[in-house]
Amino acid sequence: MISAGSPWTAEPPRTSRRGESPRLKADCVFEPTDMDHAEVRIHTMATDHVFNPEALDGSQPDPRPDEAPFEHSLRPTHLGDFIGQDRIVQDLTLAIEAAKGRGEPTDHILFSGPPGLGKTSLSRILANEMSAKLHSTTGPALERPKDLVGLLTHIELGDVLFIDEIHRIPTTVEEYLYSAMEDYSVDITLDTGPNARLITLPVKPFTLVGATTREGLLSAPFRARFGLFERLDPYPAEQLVRIIQRAARLLRMEIEESAAAYLAERSRGTPRIAGRFLRRARDLVQVSGKPALDFAAAQETLGRLGIDQNGLEEMDRRILQCLANQNGGPVSIKTIAAVVGETEDTLQDVYEPHLLRQGYLQKTARGRMLTPTGAKLVGFNLTSQGPGA
Ligand SMILES: Nc1ncnc2c1ncn2[C@@H]1O[C@H](COP(=O)(O)OP(=O)(O)O)[C@@H](O)[C@H]1O
Ligand SMILES: [Mg+2]
Repeated sequence: MISAGSPWTAEPPRTSRRGESPRLKADCVFEPTDMDHAEVRIHTMATDHVFNPEALDGSQPDPRPDEAPFEHSLRPTHLGDFIGQDRIVQDLTLAIEAAKGRGEPTDHILFSGPPGLGKTSLSRILANEMSAKLHSTTGPALERPKDLVGLLTHIELGDVLFIDEIHRIPTTVEEYLYSAMEDYSVDITLDTGPNARLITLPVKPFTLVGATTREGLLSAPFRARFGLFERLDPYPAEQLVRIIQRAARLLRMEIEESAAAYLAERSRGTPRIAGRFLRRARDLVQVSGKPALDFAAAQETLGRLGIDQNGLEEMDRRILQCLANQNGGPVSIKTIAAVVGETEDTLQDVYEPHLLRQGYLQKTARGRMLTPTGAKLVGFNLTSQGPGA
């Protein structure tokens, strides 16, 4: 039963039938007692609407938790500070200008691409440029429909709801998002048994911004509800040089161009990695008392981090070595994960994209295989033994 004055009775229900919506399943029923708990959580979020996104980032393989504050300080806040991804910046500029002209929120946007390329940064820039309040959460945090409904009820006109790792939203919750995105309303069932009733809860027009490292895992109906799809690509070295120089300026450190280029070339096209290198280099420069980060210091930094001349780190070499130990493959991702001691997700999101792009390994229906270039790197002779031999 719902007590008088409960937030759920404040709006007269637009639909009031016994829970007979085909979409609503028993586990999605909102018990008033559950909602009390939800309220408590929501209030915590509401007081800090951009609720600790750095902690969210920490849940991903990158950035490493101790580097989150550092990243935060380097995050661009305007489209004009965002280096590279020109097409995306143009799309967003247009979408923002048009939406502002109409006095409406922008279309829902999906950012996809490997970790560390700027998806979170762009989401924050979007909210900032739209002068909108940003509500941040992650797919796994929206465990039950009421987690989402709780967030939606606190959304004001034009707010941005950012959902990181959106591919990890449970299906039951995803279905509620559909109507919120499309019709700005959600149908919820209150109470169970003979008291059950379905109410339609209005949601203020908002922009959903989703970020995913695995666009392929999103269902077709979910994808179809986004108006803009933006895929971030790894950055060319010249742009990473500019990103490194900008970060160095923000950190008030001098960096020689040759050092910036050295770090950029080994950053796997990823600003987050470039930032991490720079932070390590800054420590070294500071301790050695050098006036600037020069080429030698950049070299020493990466040497200490175990990054080789191809930009590969220890884990990359272990993956390639694992394949070499199996005669070049094919080896399943599960086996590789067990051998190198890393999760399948991290291997697929963080390590493989670079190895694939560099042509060191290939994916086949039977598993991962070393390419001749990859084999050469780990000193394995593919031709004499042959893959899978
Ligand atoms: N285009 C860019 N220009 C400047 N810095 C960037 C750019 N893209 C990413 N960064 C920096 O890289 C780090 C990771 O970016 P982030 O937006 O968290 O990536 P993602 O969400 O895709 O994992 C942040 O510190 C951010 O400042
Ligand atoms: Mg992110």
